Amino acid sequence: MQEMERAAASLKAARNIVFFTGAGISAESGIPTFRDELTGLWSKQDPQQLETAKAFRENPALVWGFYLWRRNQAKQARPNAAHLSIQRLAASGRNVAVVTQNIDDLHERAGSIDVVHLHGSLKKPKCFACARSTDLEPNQYALPEHSMEREPPRCVRCNGRLRPSVLWFGEDLPVGIWKAAMAKVGGCDVLVSVGTSGIVTPAADIPEIALTSGATVIHVNLVDVSLGANKELMVIGKATQALPALLQAGFSI
Ligand code: APR
Repeated sequence: MQEMERAAASLKAARNIVFFTGAGISAESGIPTFRDELTGLWSKQDPQQLETAKAFRENPALVWGFYLWRRNQAKQARPNAAHLSIQRLAASGRNVAVVTQNIDDLHERAGSIDVVHLHGSLKKPKCFACARSTDLEPNQYALPEHSMEREPPRCVRCNGRLRPSVLWFGEDLPVGIWKAAMAKVGGCDVLVSVGTSGIVTPAADIPEIALTSGATVIHVNLVDVSLGANKELMVIGKATQALPALLQAGFSI
């Protein structure tokens, strides 16, 4: 049996399915990944200068501007066939959850309801000093013309600088979020890992955690990212093609 057929068969037999997603699922919506050669964000920029508390302390306008740019990019992007196929499967009555590393909201905009955001989201900024989260006016999210930098707005309670509600390198994943993810991953029969390089821990440990708890893991990626375990299947292809094809083969949706 081909990898795709075996993957489809295991999905068909599953009661609980978790989709674990990374930047690759949103790449075809126009949001760059991090580590792809040439197109990945980290091929041009140093994450230590942009995604750490130290970077924010040293250059808040640069870091805030970087996230305004990413926010605008995510806002302009549309959910693609991969995001939509996950939603269709949930809408067909299957037990489906999404655990994502992405800070865009394309799963939700595709209609997915059960979504755990491991690395936070671009929705509501929070105070760097007191952690109070705040809604901003739409004009506060605009970048000045011809500039990639903007001073972050201030917290109304303590006057601290606002930062994005995302997880930076060196920060701990909130315990409640990790617990929520583990409840899904530990209880699934199949974990479909889509478009992630499996480099940033603890998220990167999720496929192995699923395998250890007895689930089958299906990877959907442009390249082979499998770990070599028995209950692991590798479907090579673009997320927008391979994932709908897999779900079509498993469920005819
Ligand atoms: N379809 C399927 N897979 C794809 C596609 C595509 N169209 N395009 C790229 N990929 C795959 C790449 O082969 C790679 O394995 O997506 C993966 C993207 O990997 P990364 O750029 O490392 O993204 P991710 O795994 O989500 O990164 C994890 O790193 O910097 C942090 O916080 C950031 O959440 C992010 C974390």
